[in-house]
Amino acid sequence: MKEDNTIKMLGLKLPTDPRWVNIVEKNIEEILTDHAYCEQKAASTAISLIVSFPEYTELVQEMVALVKEEISHFKMVHDKILERGWAMGRDRKDEYVIAITKFFPKGGSRTTQLVHRLLYAALIEARSCERFRLLSEQLEDKELATFYRNLMVSEANHYTMFLGFARQYGDRTEVDKKWQELLDFEAQVMQDLGKRETIHG
Ligand SMILES: [Fe+2]
Ligand SMILES: [Fe+2]
Repeated sequence: MKEDNTIKMLGLKLPTDPRWVNIVEKNIEEILTDHAYCEQKAASTAISLIVSFPEYTELVQEMVALVKEEISHFKMVHDKILERGWAMGRDRKDEYVIAITKFFPKGGSRTTQLVHRLLYAALIEARSCERFRLLSEQLEDKELATFYRNLMVSEANHYTMFLGFARQYGDRTEVDKKWQELLDFEAQVMQDLGKRETIHG
């Protein structure tokens, strides 16, 4: 898949600077630790959605499946760290996630809050997918490149699921408008990123 097509499919408005892969390549240990935490946070987010919105039965069912999948991704990344003779490092703040999750105003109805959280989740999956695609195509380390290719497909499916739930539970027109606004905001945030050996940084 070409970069343009991936970006279009995911709705993202700004592609990652390809030089980001060069930064990552110099510090595989760091990117793997950061990536392991992304998978852990994805599993935690799914659990948190179950706890916050238990009456959304279909969502709860899907989130149970997602927790299992994301924690299995965590193990896959953790195994990669161990295979290379390293130990997982400490967690650090994800500046990207902190920045984008400030976009929607706090409060509103339960449905509004749910829609906002689903859109944030869809966006994080979309950007992760785009980053994994870059890694899968440009890493010199072919074993790791294949690893990222498989994960890229999973994250694309998660993006579709979260956006689908947002459209299902919220007002379709309003959700689509919010999604576009969030994407515009994300493009601004991304302008200052792509310079660190983290999945989103
Ligand atoms: Fe994942
Ligand atoms: Fe995911």
